[in-house]
Amino acid sequence: MMRRMNDFAALYPQHFETVKARHDRALAEAGYDHIIIFGGEIHIQFLDDTYYPFKVNPHFKSWVPVVDNPHCFIVYTPGQTPRLVYYQPVDYWYKPAGAPSGYWVDHFDVRVIGTAEAAREHFPKSGRTAFVGEPNELHSGEANPEPLLNALHFERSWKTDYEIACLTEANVRGVRGHRAAASSFRDGKSEFEIHIDYLLQSSQAEEELPYGNIIALNNNASVLHYLNHEREQPGDLRYSFLIDAGAQCNGYASDITRTYARDERGEFARLIEAMEAMQQRLCTMAKPGINYIDIHMAAHAGVAAILHDFGFVRELDADAIVEKRISSTFFPHGVGHFLGLQVHDVAGFHGNRAGCIIAKPEGHPYLRLTRIIDPRMVFTVEPGLYFIESLLADLQKSENAKYVNWTKVDDFRKFGGIRIEDDIVVTDDGHINLTRQAFAG
Ligand code: GLY
Ligand code: MN
Ligand code: MN
Repeated sequence: MMRRMNDFAALYPQHFETVKARHDRALAEAGYDHIIIFGGEIHIQFLDDTYYPFKVNPHFKSWVPVVDNPHCFIVYTPGQTPRLVYYQPVDYWYKPAGAPSGYWVDHFDVRVIGTAEAAREHFPKSGRTAFVGEPNELHSGEANPEPLLNALHFERSWKTDYEIACLTEANVRGVRGHRAAASSFRDGKSEFEIHIDYLLQSSQAEEELPYGNIIALNNNASVLHYLNHEREQPGDLRYSFLIDAGAQCNGYASDITRTYARDERGEFARLIEAMEAMQQRLCTMAKPGINYIDIHMAAHAGVAAILHDFGFVRELDADAIVEKRISSTFFPHGVGHFLGLQVHDVAGFHGNRAGCIIAKPEGHPYLRLTRIIDPRMVFTVEPGLYFIESLLADLQKSENAKYVNWTKVDDFRKFGGIRIEDDIVVTDDGHINLTRQAFAG
């Protein structure tokens, strides 16, 4: 099942057939004759003439790895060759996209347009049409019908070999950046400098990242989505470094987190080791038939055991720490999510193609995946343990405060926290850890 990047051309035809078959079925069920998928447009800034970075519609990039050209469409009628309406204006202000080329092009009836309005000429003239994308004045048809989207999203849960190859390569690129970032941290660089080194070594411009880099020194690591990049940081006051950063390949994302201690012999380094061992145990649970909620609950049990073993929480055993919801103060997010065309990929709660929702367990509002796991599903496993001021303040006011060794907690606030995140693809009899494989390569 696993192949590498030079196989994209060999793997794409099967991917194309799968995407086509998924659309055939979803359109027939929802009663549409055609689908128009709009890649998206660029958005202008308020009272300005400069643009926000272009982010392509994931439905569009499920067909073609064109992620940087606005005003393009896929127009598909089951039984016919899909049309790619491709925007290539004559423009001396901005560089137009090059001619479409690559292993995927011959699968499409390509119609080049010079103006956004010209797209309409290539839309179906009769029949019932579904439009998928950001609503736009050019569109015709019913915009984003939910039954159709539910079916398409549900089917995206199972990745094709081509998609797995893209996700594999996205991990290789991300790991290049991670290696550089770890070495920049050891060299005493600031968050901003580490961020720049990550971009350079993973060969990505900032707007190409699948999500904003989280590059956090010291207690900044306690902010789960810390997106600032401080320029000035005194080199001798560095305790910890958390980096959550990914990469894209053909529109598919990796999502990787590592945490490092400045003092490799200190207790925080041992806490990272314990978290890493626990994260690896969670990864071994990834196999067909497992309920992802069980991985999330095992992460709570694991965090609770560490809180107990390191003496952050006294008197209670791990079960009681979870039962009293003390583990949620230190681990307040879900253990992971689907990964693919989107970092937080769709259908994490879908019980079926009609979109019935599998509920989150009570008390776990931020879990993003509640499904029974099958081969070809790709998700992250990312337990964390943090010292978050606001959540600790709530705990301190609660009746559970008496179980906490506050002196010890106070000693660890400066480290911010720990998260370790790998990307996992489930196989017929287990899983492959794409992130560890990339770090080992
Ligand atoms: N990088 C965002 C996440 O881990 O979900
Ligand atoms: Mn993640
Ligand atoms: Mn992440």
